Amino acid sequence: MAGSHHISRRDFIKLMTFGAGGVIAAGIGLPAIDYLIDPALRKNAAEAWIPLGPLENFVIGKPTLVNFTRSKVNGWERTANSYGVFVVRKSETEVIVFSNICTHLGCRVNWSETAGGYLCPCHDAEFGPDGGIVRGPQPRPLDRYEGDTLKVEEGVVSILFTEG
Ligand code: FES
Repeated sequence: MAGSHHISRRDFIKLMTFGAGGVIAAGIGLPAIDYLIDPALRKNAAEAWIPLGPLENFVIGKPTLVNFTRSKVNGWERTANSYGVFVVRKSETEVIVFSNICTHLGCRVNWSETAGGYLCPCHDAEFGPDGGIVRGPQPRPLDRYEGDTLKVEEGVVSILFTEG
């Protein structure tokens, strides 16, 4: 009786050792597999449709800032980044979305009702209501979502967002 108890305890310890080994191997193995994933697939993984809200909630002609967060897993590390875009409803059915990232050095622009455009607080860049350059050091207009990167489905505005 005592013998069989001893054997089953030893078996139990063996089982636990293999079990723990398996867990450790999986822990080491998964990031290694992640490392082997083709960079092209990785790029696709960083691309996603982000819902910004019902079209009817956006006031026509008034740029509205919508913030969202994306989390990224890189091996052991998980990071969360927040982003913002301006949704501009042009009419009952038309909409366009601008990134709030200044194309100069990446500060966040704000919509100014008084200026009638987007202003960057860092080096005074000004973008027009269409995202075009008005003045400042920025090399190009604000990035925009339209066509293939913008959709309104079941009344909800979404953008195809690619995390850089
Ligand atoms: S970062 Fe916007 S003007 Fe420089």
